[in-house]
Amino acid sequence: MAAKRISIHPRWVLPITIFAHLLALAVFILVLVWLLHFREGLSFDSDNKGKIFNLHPFFMLLGFILFSGEAIMAYRTVRGVRRTQKLLHLILHLIALVAGIIGIYAVFKFHDEIESPNMYTLHSWIGLSTFILFGLQWLFAFFSFWYPKARTAIRARFLPWHAVLGLVIFLMAIVTAETGLVERFHFLGLVRSQEALIVNFIGLLVLLFAIAVAVGVALPKTTY
Ligand code: HEM
Repeated sequence: MAAKRISIHPRWVLPITIFAHLLALAVFILVLVWLLHFREGLSFDSDNKGKIFNLHPFFMLLGFILFSGEAIMAYRTVRGVRRTQKLLHLILHLIALVAGIIGIYAVFKFHDEIESPNMYTLHSWIGLSTFILFGLQWLFAFFSFWYPKARTAIRARFLPWHAVLGLVIFLMAIVTAETGLVERFHFLGLVRSQEALIVNFIGLLVLLFAIAVAVGVALPKTTY
């Protein structure tokens, strides 16, 4: 009788993914404190244009970055059959995609209302490219892995590319978020203040979150 093969994750995947969830929670709290306490708050329609801008970091950080990070980790953090993990991976990415659309729409609206030009910074170039790649990757994966689904052999060939490209896009999103935070820091003329510390800590924690997500999923599964 052939020996049964079991596949387990190295023991420290669990603490790393727990650490990533805690970092996500800390980013969530700090972004809310920044935008609601130190800044003007959030609104799609207001004479206070800062409120419209604030929707951009709100949706990009809390929606796009945190949800895509959680989606990437879904296969490691969710116990259950593979189809359930896959569904969760797909839905969390869909939430990230919708949040990204709203966040990018908000910053274009803000620019239009203050009559500022569009797409003139490195941040906006990397950001839009990342977002387009993200959308294409989601659509391609949906049709290949969920419905109508490519043939098994083709899916097996796509899968490693999907995983690597997904991680690359996620890291591009992190670069975008970090450059966005630095840009905003300077637009606001922050120097040494509580708000400056909060913005910098958001950047540091987002970076640590990305590292935890990447390490958590890059660890190979051990098969016995
Ligand atoms: C992955 C997440 C992000 C993506 C994909 C993204 C994408 C973009 C895009 C495409 C624009 C150009 C809009 C236009 O030209 O009208 C933009 C503008 C801007 N974003 Fe982001 N962004 C992200 C995260 C952030 C974050 C976290 C901040 C921090 C506050 C931020 C700050 C800004 C600022 C200040 C602008 C206006 C100046 C400029 O066009 O560079 N972004 N973003």
